[in-house]
Amino acid sequence: MVKQKPRLLSTLNFEKVDRPPIWLMRQAGRYLPEYREIRRKTSSFLSLCYSPELAAEVTLQPLKRFPLDAAIIFSDILVIPDALGQKVDFREGIGPVLSVLERPFKISEYKQNRVGKYLSPVYEALRIVRNKLPKNKTLIGFSGAPWTVATYMLEGGSSRNFANIKSWAFNEPKNFGQLISMLEHVLAEHLICQINAGADVVQIFDSWAGVLPDGAFEKWSVEPISRIAKKVSLAKPGVPIIVFPRLAGLKYGKFKNLSGVSAISIDQTVPLDWAQGSLQGETVLQGNLDPVFLVCGGKALEKETKRILEIVGNKQFIFNLGHGVLPQTPPENVSALCKIVLNWKLNEKT
Ligand code: CP3
Repeated sequence: MVKQKPRLLSTLNFEKVDRPPIWLMRQAGRYLPEYREIRRKTSSFLSLCYSPELAAEVTLQPLKRFPLDAAIIFSDILVIPDALGQKVDFREGIGPVLSVLERPFKISEYKQNRVGKYLSPVYEALRIVRNKLPKNKTLIGFSGAPWTVATYMLEGGSSRNFANIKSWAFNEPKNFGQLISMLEHVLAEHLICQINAGADVVQIFDSWAGVLPDGAFEKWSVEPISRIAKKVSLAKPGVPIIVFPRLAGLKYGKFKNLSGVSAISIDQTVPLDWAQGSLQGETVLQGNLDPVFLVCGGKALEKETKRILEIVGNKQFIFNLGHGVLPQTPPENVSALCKIVLNWKLNEKT
């Protein structure tokens, strides 16, 4: 029997595939009743993230239901502030709540040296998943980008206008830069540990990159991500890195020639013909179905999925969403989406 190389890895290596690979950001989570059942039995969201057997089980749940090409480890970007010693709590109906970080930032107050050890349950979960995952499926590790992780650390949770973090970054760039450098260091270490534990690919989520004004974007999104990508690819050559600087608009272009970066994930506001002409080919493209189409289902979902495949499906492309699966998504719509993508043949329509 000929062993099939994972489609996602082939695509990331610019090799020919029979159809675009598919996985979905937040493919494990509250829209699945089997997730809610496990979640009910755990005292908190973080305790689920730190229970290797349960986190591995939740990671594999969507692959049991749907013919996805990859598993993404079940964890969160906010395990980093938690590991650093900041208080992190996830409240139902509110989201993450963090103790507010005092200014000026004092590096000595953060437990950066314990991060690898503190997060060992996450690496253990990756090892368990790797052993259970069929060889033709890819395992994805991830982290937040320094800017996005810092927004939660400084705003104390989700934010409306990012006034705290921005005024610190704009007024005290030197001190703010120390926080960003510290995060670069621990995030790179976290990604390398995930690769050591079995991740084949890693994705860096810069979910709030789009709130940065033009002049600051380079300094606080592109440069830190670029330094992390360099560090990770130096330590782990050949492991593809996907970056997701959400809502970056035209500035997505700044990520296409970064060393170590293999693919750019685009949100649903990016015009696909622009992405196809300006990004795809030089880089692998991932995206960009609006997650609300998965809530709607039916003809709207089918039409939009085919529109995306027709514009970008014939070149290096990974089918994904423009942001995560929404909790109100009916699971049968995810099945319907997979069916459309699996039945798509490259060059079917050009
Ligand atoms: O994609 C996956 O299936 C892997 C799991 C995953 C989670 N969070 C699980 C989660 C991933 C990749 C993340 C990344 C993450 N976490 C991001 C970047 C992507 C994005 O959405 O922009 C961000 C910004 C966070 C921070 C975070 N975690 C927020 C703002 C929230 C609350 C909002 C919400 O959806 O509840 C979380 C909680 C969280 N992370 C849940 C899950 C399944 C829900 C908590 C629960 O089940 O009780």
